[in-house]
Amino acid sequence: MNKNIVCIGAGYIGGPTMAVIAKMNPDRKVIVVDINKDRIAAWNSPDYALPIYEPGLVDVVREVRGKNLFFSTDIEGAVKECDIVFVGVNTPTKMFGRGAGRASDLQFWEATAREIKNYAEGDKIIVEKSTLPVRTAAAMESILNDHAKFRFTVLSNPEFLAEGTAIKDLLEPDRVLIGGPQDEVGLAAINEIVEVYATWVPRERILTTNVWSAELTKLAANAFLAQRVSSINAIAGLCEATGADVEEVARVMGADHRIGSKFLKAGPGFGGSCFKKDVLNLVYLCESFGLHTAAEYWSGVIKMNEHQQERIVSRLFKAMFNTLANKKIALFGFAFKADTGDTRETPSGTVARLLYDEHVRIVITDPKALPNARRDLADIVGDGSRLAFEDDPYKAAEDADAVVLMTDWRLYPSLDWKRIYDSMRKPALVFDTRNCLDRDALKSIGFRVLNVGK
Ligand code: NAD
Ligand code: UGA
Repeated sequence: MNKNIVCIGAGYIGGPTMAVIAKMNPDRKVIVVDINKDRIAAWNSPDYALPIYEPGLVDVVREVRGKNLFFSTDIEGAVKECDIVFVGVNTPTKMFGRGAGRASDLQFWEATAREIKNYAEGDKIIVEKSTLPVRTAAAMESILNDHAKFRFTVLSNPEFLAEGTAIKDLLEPDRVLIGGPQDEVGLAAINEIVEVYATWVPRERILTTNVWSAELTKLAANAFLAQRVSSINAIAGLCEATGADVEEVARVMGADHRIGSKFLKAGPGFGGSCFKKDVLNLVYLCESFGLHTAAEYWSGVIKMNEHQQERIVSRLFKAMFNTLANKKIALFGFAFKADTGDTRETPSGTVARLLYDEHVRIVITDPKALPNARRDLADIVGDGSRLAFEDDPYKAAEDADAVVLMTDWRLYPSLDWKRIYDSMRKPALVFDTRNCLDRDALKSIGFRVLNVGK
């Protein structure tokens, strides 16, 4: 009989991943649990007002919720009922004590290990879904198997989905990675998890490794992706200085199969909950093992990213006659990328704060991320006079001196930019940090236009 699955953590990773696993494994019961009652209530909401926005997610949840997919706050009951325990809790950057600002904060992770141990009434396979420092599985095993009545086998099954395309990435993954102990028990456990994915993922795309390789691969993959974004943004600055066009440079570079065309889009820098956190984690790991030059190398990826957002504000400052005080700037987009409401580490947040420090009057508009934006910037909303939120981009731009496009929502290129121009103060500036608008069309309307890398 196929084993039931519980996932601890009903966030951006736990929710979508388990929904797809349930859809593709109709003969298994899948329970997603969380300590956050509001989140679970949203997953269970009768009108499918799910706690996260992700294209296609609601259709999958509609198909399986109440059949073989369940959301619950009853962690104890779910752990007792299921033999396979995925753990997808958050692992943010630690902000205190040893390794502050770089290491992973593993307190949520360790709390789940203790919960599992307390509630288990039989042997379990524990699957790390969260992104974790290398050798976390060893710590997990020590906690779980110390004076334990049952056997706990810890595997690493890191997730590679990207937000905004989570369902597609889950349904058609480039690869699924399962790492585990290379002994008889470990290999049998790996095989059990292979079976979960093999219901829809071709076998040749399910890659198995030892547990440490799996943990490190996840950090390394994110670090390489982040490094590509920082590399192209470093080239973008040079393009602006020399008259080269970063899109032309990227197109031709990407035509080389050894380089490839993906992740070569210059922009406001990478955001999202993971790139910064995972690169910092890698830096900390390198430092911990005395690999200081490697640590410095990866730190550069973060430094370049921060510089990119500072550069956006510096260029605005220069283009707007070296004073931004009391000018009105509309930020188009607050999500860290299109097709998500997620605003964690969003470049828009950094730019908003830098502009706020310059006494700019800011209006933020976004089709999905305004609730998160309001929460993120609650500390500077104050009396509301210098920071406002607006659903309608046309209203956001009224009387503005500049529009700064921060997120590549498909909606923005299709707006009536003549209407926007007519409603703005002159000279009207557009800073398209995603290079997604028609620059020549904007110029012929009368806009002054800034881009990244041009
Ligand atoms: P999240 O904050 O959206 O979700 C984590 C959830 O875990 C929260 O709802 C929290 O309440 C819950 N939780 C924390 N402690 C708990 C406990 N003791 N018992 C029960 N529930 C608990 O985070 P996320 O974005 O889903 O990321 C989770 C992990 O997955 C991270 O390690 C992240 O690096 C990794 N990851 C995320 C993505 C992504 O796209 N967001 C992609 C790949 C990997
Ligand atoms: C990233 C990885 O792509 C996933 O494989 C990984 O699972 C995930 O992190 C994770 O571990 O959380 P995600 O952060 O959701 O996914 O989104 P990406 O598409 O990777 O974009 C990250 C950031 O880089 C965004 O701000 C995006 O706008 C930016 N980016 C991306 C660029 O500026 N240029 C590019 O060419 C690509």
